[in-house]
Order: sequence, then structure tokens, then C-alpha cells
Amino acid sequence: MQRKTIAMSAQEVDEADIQAVTEVLRSGRLALGPKAEEFERRIAGYIGVKYAVAVNSGTAALHLIVKALGLGSGDEVLVPSFTFVASINALLYEGCRPVFVDIDPETKNLNPTQIESKLTPRTRAIMVVDVFGHPAEWDEITSIARRYGLRVIDDSCEALGAEYKSRKLGQFGDAAAFSFYPNKQMTLGEGGVIVTNNEETASMARSLRNQGRDEMGSWLHHERLGYNYRLPEMSAALGISQLRRIDKFLAKREHVAALYSRRLQQMDWVRPPVIRSGVRMSWCLYVVTLAEGLDRDRIMQAMAALGIPTRGYFSPVHLQPYIRKAFGSKEGDLPVTESMARCCVALPFRNNLTEAQINRAVSALTLAARQQMTPKARVCSPNATSKTIASADPSGGS
Ligand SMILES: Cc1ncc(COP(=O)(O)O)c(C=O)c1O
Repeated sequence: MQRKTIAMSAQEVDEADIQAVTEVLRSGRLALGPKAEEFERRIAGYIGVKYAVAVNSGTAALHLIVKALGLGSGDEVLVPSFTFVASINALLYEGCRPVFVDIDPETKNLNPTQIESKLTPRTRAIMVVDVFGHPAEWDEITSIARRYGLRVIDDSCEALGAEYKSRKLGQFGDAAAFSFYPNKQMTLGEGGVIVTNNEETASMARSLRNQGRDEMGSWLHHERLGYNYRLPEMSAALGISQLRRIDKFLAKREHVAALYSRRLQQMDWVRPPVIRSGVRMSWCLYVVTLAEGLDRDRIMQAMAALGIPTRGYFSPVHLQPYIRKAFGSKEGDLPVTESMARCCVALPFRNNLTEAQINRAVSALTLAARQQMTPKARVCSPNATSKTIASADPSGGS
């Protein structure tokens, strides 16, 4: 009998969420109302910053940060290529030039030792991405930024609730963006937020999201070119309701990740996600690194045939057709990024993934990997820490 396909991700929506949205629908106030303001107060309190500006996506949040910080045409911004394309698009919308920086093969985050060689007189900022929910190397990055007078944007879209040295992400850099797309730690359907301790940045972002209106201005008075990036009241109500359960969500995700890692760490042809000391990871995705000799895409196909969906994360942005065309970037520019892009695979992941489902996913991965094992396959790492795959753990194949 064909077994049911496990969902790649799923949001957790309960009766309280449904009631919160329904109440807004009954209230007649569907936009520009008290729910968005309340959501902003609550999210700022959760993260520990002075200001939060709710918008309708993480992409909009990043775009408004770039614009509110005054970055524009010709300004160079250092950014990883191992990220979702929206990080780079937010820069391109304003005519900034993305300057790609390679990553650390363990955390997959921007490698601070690669930053200084990329600086030019036109460098104005660094966009940091906390990939898959693992905090970036914030001490090193902020100290380099201070030394060279650079602005710092935190693309924390995948990392709500993550902590670096006991401080929540969102407190680092000039401003941070979070996303509430349904595969994130909590969801608003679509939605995002800008957080910052800078009043001017917050006030500019508020104006920009609302067609360039000033907070005190009249409805048809526009101070500047703006956008409609407002968050609807239904989404804000869902956000308030979901935020009440964020600690539970994060704990459940931590539990699922721990179960996966416990199974996978017995195997020497795959590396579970690395968590550095001094950080609290907030699990957005569960991404493993396969041995270099394994064909990741064939493994993904074999797993799909067994009812286990996967995703190859990330496809480097510097190799996307429109970026190659605009900036002449090519294979070989970022060796670690490109190597990780060939070896990393996201397994099904959500709050309520059961132990049986985790075992099924690990078994499918093991079966698919074993079909192509050769003694040459090595754990994917350009460092000398590679391990051979001589003996795959047979317990994975149950
Ligand atoms: C790293 C990163 N940046 C930006 C975004 C964009 O967020 P949204 O999809 O809410 O626009 C995402 C969303 O997947 C992301 O993962």
C-alpha cells in the first residue's frame, strides 16, 4: 500500500487563532486599526526593542530598512549568496550593488573573516542573514562594521526567537526584519515586521509602508514616494494570537530537531545542523549536509518516491540568471557557498512532526543515500574535518 506523503512544513493554527481573525472580520475594521498597533507593541516587547513596524511580508520589511537607512544607487552592500533571493532583491529595488561574501561551512552563515577583503570605498552596509534560524557571528560582524562605519541590516526572517549570547536577534544591527510566511516559526499567512531601537528609522519605515504619508499628515498628503506595505487587521490579529504561543512553538521545533539529530549523528555520511555554543537556535528549517560524493538531487528524487518531500537549500543567489546577467557573477566565485548548495537538503519539518514520521524520513534518506555510496563519498566540507562513509548506520534503514 502506498504510504501518505509527509508534508514538508505546516503551520499550527488553533481555535483561538480562528476566533481572533473572525472577531476582526465582525468588527468592520479590516485595515489601519488597533490590531496592527497591538501586534507591534507585543513583538517589540518580545524581542526587547523600542520600535516595531508591521508590514505585509519579510521582503517588504527588508526593502523598507534599506530605504529608511538611506542606502541607494551605487552603494555596495555586503551580503551572503547563501540566502533566499529576497535578501538581495531588497537591495536591488534601491539600486544598491550586492557584494557577495562566502559562508562558514558549519553554520552556513556569513563568514566574518571574508568581510574585510570585500570592502571598497563604496561599501556602505552589511546585510547579515541568520540562516535557517542560527544566529550569525554578531560580535565579529558588529565590531568590523563599527571599525569601518558601516550600517548593519539583520535579515532575521528565519530566526524569530533565536538568541546570541542571551540576547534575542532583532537587537543587533541598525534594524532587523522578520517574516511570518507559513513555513516560519509563527505565521500570519503573509506578513513581516521591522524592529529597531532607532526612532528615525522606525518613523521613516511607518511613512514608507503607508504611501509616504506622515504620521500627522492628512489622508491625501504624501511627503515622499511610498508603498502599500500595510499589514491587514486580520493578519495582525492572527499574529497576536500566534505570538502568545511562540515559546511552545519554539520548544516543539527544538524537540523535533533533537530527535532528527539524535538519529542522524550516528551516521558518517550526513552531518546534522551544527549549533555553536553561546547561541539559541530558533528552528526554521532542518537542513542536513550530505557527504560530498553523494548526488543530493538523486537522493531527493528517491525520497520523493518514498513519500518524503525535501528541498535543496539554498540555490546561491549569485548564480541566478538575472544576477549573473547584471553583475557577471559565475561558478567558482564563492567556493563554500557553492559546495554547500550542492550538499544541503531540508527534511520535512514542523512543530508537530511525530517520531514515527521523523523515523520514516530518516529511513528514506538512508535508503536513498545507500543506493549510491562509494568509499570516496565524504562529509561535505571544504575543511579537513571530512569523514569517509565506509559504514552507514544500518539502524537508519528500518
Ligand atoms: C532569509 C529570508 N529573507 C527574506 C525572506 C522573505 O520573507 P517573505 O517571504 O515574508 O517576503 C525569507 C522568507 O522566506 C527568508 O527566508
